[in-house]
Amino acid sequence: MEPTIHYGLAGVYFAETEICGINGDRGELFYRGYDIRDLTEATYTEVVYLLWHGELPTQRQLDDFRAELVPHYPIPDKVLELLLCLPPGTDPMHMLQAAAAMLAAFDDNPDEIDPDNLRRIGLSLVVQFPNLVATFERLRRGEQPLEPKSELGLAGNFLYMLNGEVPTPAAERVLNTALLLHAEHGSNASTFVARSSASTLTDAYSAIAAAVGSLKGPLHGGANEAVMRALESIGTIDKVEQYVLDTLAKPKGRVMGFGHRVYKVLDPRGAILRDVAAELAESSSEAEYFHMSLEMERVMEREMTARGRQVKPNLDFFSASVYRMLGIPVDLYTPIFAVARVSGWMAHLFEQYADNHLVRPLVKYQGERGRPFVPIAKRG
Ligand code: SDX
Repeated sequence: MEPTIHYGLAGVYFAETEICGINGDRGELFYRGYDIRDLTEATYTEVVYLLWHGELPTQRQLDDFRAELVPHYPIPDKVLELLLCLPPGTDPMHMLQAAAAMLAAFDDNPDEIDPDNLRRIGLSLVVQFPNLVATFERLRRGEQPLEPKSELGLAGNFLYMLNGEVPTPAAERVLNTALLLHAEHGSNASTFVARSSASTLTDAYSAIAAAVGSLKGPLHGGANEAVMRALESIGTIDKVEQYVLDTLAKPKGRVMGFGHRVYKVLDPRGAILRDVAAELAESSSEAEYFHMSLEMERVMEREMTARGRQVKPNLDFFSASVYRMLGIPVDLYTPIFAVARVSGWMAHLFEQYADNHLVRPLVKYQGERGRPFVPIAKRG
């Protein structure tokens, strides 16, 4: 019988999960049963706890969790040396992937996959990722890296370590929302990579390093940077329409930040970030990027409807103008996605290792058969 090929594994279920539910037709997203819109009232740190433990923490549990994170903050000296020896212009995602793999070498117990050891590695990565990104940025600006402040949460500390000043409550709130919206999203490409790596029973660091590499692509987490590069190249709002038309006129032309494999209506995270961006735009000198984004959304809606397609803004679309208005360099947008998503990747590794099945799909062989071997001396 001819096998059915599910290109891109579209529509294929490969595991069960209790972490996150998505209804793509209704534009709904739940972490552990909580609607993502309600969770924007929480902090990112609470959301990490929720993803890992299945329950929102009490104040006491949250305080204990934050205290557990503190000892994991310092970057091992040799990893810091790695950051220092990277050539100027290194893509921060390459740095993050290399550092994630290197952290395993400075862990006394990287390989054990029992829940306690995995949770310890998760605590470390959840703070190492923001620390690495902020430290990398400060070093390349010629500034000294900063120690985190124990009174700040994950979002606040990241902004502090990046900018050298305690963020305003408003800026902290915005980054907090962005981080919790990016934390988890079911079997997206990078989480699938993390889980399928882990399914070989490799260590968590290796699975996370693989996931970072997958997230970097412009069809996935790299889209937020691609959105901003496109807006920068367009320049002014009056040129947005022509840009969209020109892009759509190309074979397989894709406007970055639009479309989703699962959502057929507006990505709920995109809607939340649009509101966040609108608020920031009221007082930002970079509001232009948000207004260009709105124009792009308008033209895409018109053009996609005319083509009978449901192609809406996704998470990456408005996050680009949000980060711009927060003053974050463009090549840190995808690393910030990784800073958040590492918590979701770890939640999935807990599940994967607890009930492991080797991920090993099939590819249909379409090549030649029965070719006679010719020794090298006789090949011409
Ligand atoms: C993320 O899965 C997740 O959960 C991912 C994510 C997460 O939280 O982890 O939500 C984060 O990765 C968001 C996606 C970021 N990527 C982009 O913004 C890149 C631009 N978007 C696309 O290339 C595309 O929409 C994908 C990659 C997101 C989805 O790809 P699919 O499911 O393979 O869909 P497709 O590319 O085959 O598109 C189907 C049709 C197309 O028809 P054809 O031209 O192939 O006949 O939809 C149209 C197009 O008509 N279409 C687009 C479009 N996306 C889809 N047309 C123009 N621009 C687009 N962006």
